[in-house]
Amino acid sequence: MRDIGIKVVRIGEFAWSRLEPKPGDLQFDWLQQAMDTLHTHELKIVLGTPTATPPRWVLDKHPDMLAIDEHGKQRNFGSRRHYCFSSRAYREECDRITTLIAKRFGQHPGLLAWQTDNEFGCHDTILSYSNQALEAFRTWCRERYGDIQKLNDAWGNVFWSMEYTSFDDIDAPVSTVTEANPAHTLAYWRFSSDQVASFNKLQVDILNRHSPGKPVSHNFMGFFTSFDHHQVSRDLDIATWDSYPLGFLARDITDENEKQTWLRTGHPDSVAFHHDLYRGCTGGRWWVMEQQPGPVNWAPYNPTPLPDMVRLWSWEAFAHGAEVVSYFRWRQAPFAQEQMHAGLLLPQGGEATAAAQVRQVNEEIAQLSHCELYNDKAPAAIVMDYVGLQMQAVQQPADHSQHALTYTLTIYSALRSCGLDVDVVAPEADLSGYAIVCIATSTYLSESLTDKLNAIDGNVLLFPQSGSRTTEFSIPSNLPPGHGQSLIPLRVVQVDTVPKDFRWQLDNQMVASEWREMVVSEIAPHTHFADGWGCLYEHGKTTYINARLNSASLVHVLQPILAKHAITATHLPRGVRTRRRGNVQFLFNFGPDSFTIDTKTCQALGVTPSTTLLLGKHDVPVAGMAAWERTD
Ligand code: GAL
Repeated sequence: MRDIGIKVVRIGEFAWSRLEPKPGDLQFDWLQQAMDTLHTHELKIVLGTPTATPPRWVLDKHPDMLAIDEHGKQRNFGSRRHYCFSSRAYREECDRITTLIAKRFGQHPGLLAWQTDNEFGCHDTILSYSNQALEAFRTWCRERYGDIQKLNDAWGNVFWSMEYTSFDDIDAPVSTVTEANPAHTLAYWRFSSDQVASFNKLQVDILNRHSPGKPVSHNFMGFFTSFDHHQVSRDLDIATWDSYPLGFLARDITDENEKQTWLRTGHPDSVAFHHDLYRGCTGGRWWVMEQQPGPVNWAPYNPTPLPDMVRLWSWEAFAHGAEVVSYFRWRQAPFAQEQMHAGLLLPQGGEATAAAQVRQVNEEIAQLSHCELYNDKAPAAIVMDYVGLQMQAVQQPADHSQHALTYTLTIYSALRSCGLDVDVVAPEADLSGYAIVCIATSTYLSESLTDKLNAIDGNVLLFPQSGSRTTEFSIPSNLPPGHGQSLIPLRVVQVDTVPKDFRWQLDNQMVASEWREMVVSEIAPHTHFADGWGCLYEHGKTTYINARLNSASLVHVLQPILAKHAITATHLPRGVRTRRRGNVQFLFNFGPDSFTIDTKTCQALGVTPSTTLLLGKHDVPVAGMAAWERTD
């Protein structure tokens, strides 16, 4: 590991059956030896709590700790994440093992940080419909609404005679004849998100108590919105995430052309988007805990990356502010579920293809040791609202390829193709100082958010569905965008959704798909749909974008705004992306063509051809990168 340049090693996250093979039979010496060995070799350790994989005896002891799926089926032992977040007995087992591990290893000199559990929600494990979950949900409803009539009113239960007379009448929103009340579904999501947060916090508190001063992290996933990550992050010191660019492309991007183009590089924005999202989760400290080092095993197909991609992905993470990039996994496992998953080593121990790239990155890091790699506020921000995303998912037309998160990625791509760095922030974040703030997923627009938006100098872009629901999932009494009307005087009177291949061609080359809103306002729109309805409304510093415009059309919308803020926009080729960190300017080429940095790009990036080129050359091949030292 030292030879390749590894400095941080995560261990233990699935090791419960070896740490405690029988109830109370603690076998910690092997872990002690492993940690001592790593420490002797100056490798820092991240220790995972083993709660994502309870051994067989734990569930023999507590058979009702298993999750139940939406069809009433138990999710059994034999893989991982076989627990229900609401199981009280399982929480006690987790408390116990976490306390024992924290007490034994919390002061180990090699310990750098903790990781709670592993990937909350992986394999669709947030929602459970067990008896204990239902009981906890009823309690949650009681605490939130106080009075059953208040709940009936909030959810609109008079519709279809769904009114309850007691909190004990409430079931989970599954197995209904047709769709359950979306307010009910949303409440169950909120409840489940709270369960994840409290499950995590139990461990964080124990770790803080017995291992003071050691930061606690959790490894989040990509394209995953089944709980509120901002909420969970409030209890963490470091947000980390697991970056599998080719796996995400095959699994989460629906456009077939994109899949072909980026087959071996990954989508040029999807990973960067998550870097910016997780940086925003703690407002600073974040890592990549698992970086794909070759083909993975879990996507519909698993291509090998282009030869230099592991280096590019590593540098991309550092360029976005990562403190650590760790690779999954060290050695390819010759047994069990992940035999087809590459590691840095082959199953028998020789180096796999990515090892040389990791060594190279390590040498290059040393070359940049004199640089100042701080994180500045970006010129643009996207406000990420997990509850709002869930609201859009609850009532999404079935034909839509674009989950609201994917449309957020389209907005992100538009900003990034103009050469802008972007912060992805929580609704509670300080929004002052941004030239552009995009409200993409705030389906409920709170007054505190609109007050904040009214107070900033930057331009505000409101995207479709902003403020289209109250916090309890009904249409606001003043019509959408609800409180957003304090930013721009208009009302959405009708929504028009169409099959995913349908396109609205607007009269100035702009194109929209899937979703548009018919707006009534005194404001004259910028352009019109063929049937006469307006598109794009502007009032002072606010623009309401009342249709899902594609990325190129969004660039048209952005250009005058950028000019107003004296931001020089570059028009970067499809697969070229830039990112500034401190006094270093990075450029990455995802292809499909090689890229030569010309004077215009240099100007826009604030570097001159003679500025010190730290890494790479002016000709940047596909899967290549360059980095300059900025002098401004
Ligand atoms: C992650 C997980 C790892 C491993 C990896 C495979 O979801 O945290 O344990 O399964 O994916 O890509």
